[in-house]
Amino acid sequence: MFEESILVEKSLPLNGEVNLSGAKNAVLVIMTSLLLTSGKSILRNIPASEDVFCMIELLQKLGVEVNFDIINKTLYADTSHINNFKIDSTIMKRMRASVLALGPLLARFGYASLAMPGGCSIGTRPINFHLTNFKKMGVEFSQDGEYLVGKVNKLNAKKLILEYPSVGATENIVMAATLTMGKTTIINAALEPEVLDLIDILKKMGANISILAPATIEIEGVQTLSPVDHFVMCDRLEAGSLLLAAAISGGDIYIPNAQANYLDVFLLKLEDMGHTIITQENIPGIRLIATNKPQAVSFKTMPYPGFPTDLQAPMMAALALAEGVSEIEETVYENRFLHAAELNKMGANIQINGTKALVTGVKELNGMSVNATDIRASCALVIAGLVASGQTTIKNIHHFKRGYDELDKKLNSVGAKVTVNNYPSIPHVVSSYGQKEI
Ligand code: EPZ
Repeated sequence: MFEESILVEKSLPLNGEVNLSGAKNAVLVIMTSLLLTSGKSILRNIPASEDVFCMIELLQKLGVEVNFDIINKTLYADTSHINNFKIDSTIMKRMRASVLALGPLLARFGYASLAMPGGCSIGTRPINFHLTNFKKMGVEFSQDGEYLVGKVNKLNAKKLILEYPSVGATENIVMAATLTMGKTTIINAALEPEVLDLIDILKKMGANISILAPATIEIEGVQTLSPVDHFVMCDRLEAGSLLLAAAISGGDIYIPNAQANYLDVFLLKLEDMGHTIITQENIPGIRLIATNKPQAVSFKTMPYPGFPTDLQAPMMAALALAEGVSEIEETVYENRFLHAAELNKMGANIQINGTKALVTGVKELNGMSVNATDIRASCALVIAGLVASGQTTIKNIHHFKRGYDELDKKLNSVGAKVTVNNYPSIPHVVSSYGQKEI
C-alpha cells in the first residue's frame, strides 16, 4: 500500500527570495474569535494547511457558513446561524487548538461542550489554566460521557492570575472577557505576536483591550462585537524554518514579508553561529547569508520574547553540523526532543538528559528513512535532509501538512529538492471558482 512520505534530496545552497504564508498559530485562534460576532467576516492571508481545513470543519459543525478561496488565500465566514455548541470530539482529538472555541461560545451563548483534548507526542498538554479561570468567571463544568460541558448565565469580570503565561489560556480568557461586562485583568499573560494579532482583530470587532507592563492584559467588556475584514500576520515560525534551511545549506535567502522584531532572540543565535542577518529597522524583510563555518550556540526555549519552542527542533538540525557542542534546554514542553533520535539515525551526535540536549557537531549527515513525531520535528527532518548525503525519506507527513502551506514548494523555489508524495488526506471538493468547500 502506497505510504505517504516526503523525499528530500541533498540540495545545493538555497539562494533567492521567498514569501511567507499566514501564521498557523494566529489564524486558528482568529477563526474561533469569529464566533463572538454575528454576520459575515473576511480573513485574508490564510494558509491552506490541514489544521486550517480542520478548523473550517469545526466551525461548520457549529453552524458557521465557511468558504475558503484557496487560490486567493481568503476565507469567508458567516456566523449568523450558529446552532450547535458542541465541539466535535473527533476534531478535538485531531487538533488541540479546538479548545479555543470554548471561550467564544461561553461568552456569546453561555454554553459549550468539548471532549477533553488528548496530549500529543510533545507533552500531556492539559487545559487546567483555561478551566480554572473560566470557573473563576462563573462557568460551571460537568461531565457528560466523554464531553465536558460548560454553562454560565453571565460571565463575571475578574482579576485572573496565570501561573504560567499560557498562549491558549490567555487567548481563551481574552476572547471570553470581550463580552463580559466590567474589567477583566489577566496577570502574567502570554504576549506572543500571535496573541497580539488576535487582540488586533478583536479590537477591530469593537473590543476594548489594553496591554500594560508587565505582561498584563485588561479587557473592558462590551455588549456586542461586529464582523470584520482582517489580514492575518505572516508566519514567523515558517520564516525561522526557511532561514535555517538557507543556513544549513550555506545559502543566501531573502524573505520580504518576514518581521525581524518577532524573532529577535532567534536571529541573535543565528548571528552567534556566524551567519549574517540583514534587516532594516521597522521595515519587514530578513536576509540571511550563511557562513560556511557555523559555530555551536546554546539556548533555552522560553515564552515570547525568548527563543520560541516551535523553532527548537529546526534549530537542533542546523546545530547538528555546527563546530563545537551546543546545549539546548526545552523549558516549555516536557517531551519535545523526539526528533533527536531521528537526527541521530542520520548521523547526528545528540545526547538527551531530561530537558537538556547536548548537540556535538559532526562533519556530515546521511540520508535515511526517518519518522516525523510532530509538526516542528517534521520541518527539522526536512532541513537536515537538505544537506544529508543521498536521499532522506520522512514518514508521518500529516504533521508537515498540518503545520505548513506547501513549505516544500517554497523550499524548492530557492533550490531545494523536496517531494511530498501524498494523496489528499481529506477529500476536498474544489468548486468551479477555485474555492475549496469542505
Ligand atoms: C500554542 O500552544 C501553540 N499552538 C504551540 O504551537 C506553541 O508551542 C505554544 O503555544 C507555546 O508557544 C497554537 O497556537 C495552536 P501553552 P498552547 O498553553 O496554547 C502547559 C506548534 O507546533 N499548559 O502556552 O497549547 C502546556 O502543557 C504548536 O505550532 C498547562 O500546563 O501552549 C505547555 O507545557 C505546538 N496547562 C505549556 O503550558 C494549561 O492549561 C505551554 O502551553 C495550558 C498549558
